[in-house]
Amino acid sequence: MRISPSILNTDFARLADEIAKVPSADAIHIDVMDNHFVPNLTIGRPVVECLRRVTDLTLDVHLMIDNPDLHALSYVSAGADLVTFHLEAAAQPVELARAIRSAGAGVGVAIKPATPAVAVEALIPEIDQVLVMSVEPGFGGQTLMISVLPKVTDIRAMIERSDQACWLAMDGGISVGTIDACVEAGADSFVAGSAVFGSADPDGAIVELRRLAEQALGRRLALMSTESIDRPAAVVVSQ
Ligand code: DX5
Ligand code: ZN
Repeated sequence: MRISPSILNTDFARLADEIAKVPSADAIHIDVMDNHFVPNLTIGRPVVECLRRVTDLTLDVHLMIDNPDLHALSYVSAGADLVTFHLEAAAQPVELARAIRSAGAGVGVAIKPATPAVAVEALIPEIDQVLVMSVEPGFGGQTLMISVLPKVTDIRAMIERSDQACWLAMDGGISVGTIDACVEAGADSFVAGSAVFGSADPDGAIVELRRLAEQALGRRLALMSTESIDRPAAVVVSQ
């Protein structure tokens, strides 16, 4: 279970101080927006380069930009450890994923709420993370769309079938009230903006989200093992 705080709604004049508040983070999630792919404009490559100098934490860059085919590699050279681009924006996603990996970073593919699970299936062997947006990308502080949960379950099944190591992340509206349902759906990595930095104790919020996620995972695994014990009997009945 991985918890990555998003710095989107932090004080951009004090980013180094904001990152210093979350030493328990598995990664720092950096939302890059270009005012074209999404209706918001945030930060770009020079800021990622500066953040690289102030933290050893994993930098997880979420590109919400047009033409990631042209721009994504520059974020690897800026120091990103993981670069996630939107499938809807990429002209040649397989080639781009391979290029990011060859440049030495992990690679993720993000999908918007309306993009179906099947769109990412062929890419799973090429990537390290599928990022399912659980809000329309562009802004922090929105409510999680529970309508994406069946899609998360479908992608979890695809990852299991592929036998590849691939994180299944969710981004948008993740909180202590929603993380259980997301784990139960099959996610194992969570981006949380307002739930972390809106808290009086941001690092404590990460620890609590991770605790809840691990607890929910325990329940999910227990349920799966009960189902697999039950399954042979069901097969016997169907014969
Ligand atoms: C939204 C961004 C998210 C955002 C999440 O487009 O991709 O990473 O910061 O913020 P919360 O957790 O507040 O929904
Ligand atoms: Zn994001």
